[in-house]
Amino acid sequence: MDTCHQLDIVLASGASDALSLAISVLCNEGQNILLPRPGFSLYQTLSESKGIECRYYNLLPDRNWETDLDHLSSLIDDKTACLLINNPSNPCGSNFTRQHLESILSLCEIYKLPVICDEIYEDMVYGDNIFYPLANLTKTVPILKISGLAKRYLIPGWRVGWIFIYDYNNILNEVRSGLASLANLILGANSLIQNALPDIIMNTPQSFHDETDKLLEENAKLSANVLGKIPGLHVIVPQGAMYMMVGINIEEFKDINNDIEFSEKLVQEESVLCLPGKSFHYPNYVRIVTTAPAEKLNEAYQRIKEFCARYHV
Ligand SMILES: Cc1ncc(COP(=O)(O)O)c(C=O)c1O
Repeated sequence: MDTCHQLDIVLASGASDALSLAISVLCNEGQNILLPRPGFSLYQTLSESKGIECRYYNLLPDRNWETDLDHLSSLIDDKTACLLINNPSNPCGSNFTRQHLESILSLCEIYKLPVICDEIYEDMVYGDNIFYPLANLTKTVPILKISGLAKRYLIPGWRVGWIFIYDYNNILNEVRSGLASLANLILGANSLIQNALPDIIMNTPQSFHDETDKLLEENAKLSANVLGKIPGLHVIVPQGAMYMMVGINIEEFKDINNDIEFSEKLVQEESVLCLPGKSFHYPNYVRIVTTAPAEKLNEAYQRIKEFCARYHV
């Protein structure tokens, strides 16, 4: 935040609203936006509602969900308005290395692409992983950083999010005034919580964040250990956020043809709810949320194990 002037901060009604403002201001109807696959479905909902074409660049499960940069480059044309990246990621639970973020930035330099960087899970990484805010790694690529209170402070219902504008070379002057106008279209973010914001940000003890990250790390390890041993499933061990993607070797299951059928049958037969990968444009995976207490996770994983045993051939 120290590199951002106060005029470069736009408050919004949650990160969702911040994303809506950022997409509206950078993209015109008829242009296209580059979105991650797998990725958070709200990006598509917001973009398509504004007449913007969504183009999905692949993330690579075998490389901790890093971006396939060649694929990304192949999607860019003169109608590409911006790149959206989400780090750490929902649904992947991945956290990009500094080197990978720099490679993405080099590509943005070449194609002169501004970036919407959704960092709502910023700092929520564990193990040896380090979170690098994208905007700290460039002085040339203009960035609209999205974040908010929902995840880091575990208060999704309080509805305050924000955009930080990083634009050292004044490329985004019109965008800056556009955002100010768009932010005034509605009466804005929750005023009660806006008032409490300085206190929340400055005075939340570090121990609160440390405990959250510890719980997420322990739960991620538990989830990867248990689910990784179930025949028919494979896991990508998460590095951050509160999610894990679990691959289904669909050809090894009888009477289950895809991730939607897997999720539907699992909730019907075992009352365990996982979102199908299709919700993130990524078939034959399911997304696990790793925030529940360990005993609840263990119970859910035992049920998943029994469910898989019934259908695995
Ligand atoms: C990647 C990502 N971005 C943005 C949001 C929206 O956050 P908010 O609750 O602040 O609108 C979410 C919520 O799940 C998310 O996962």
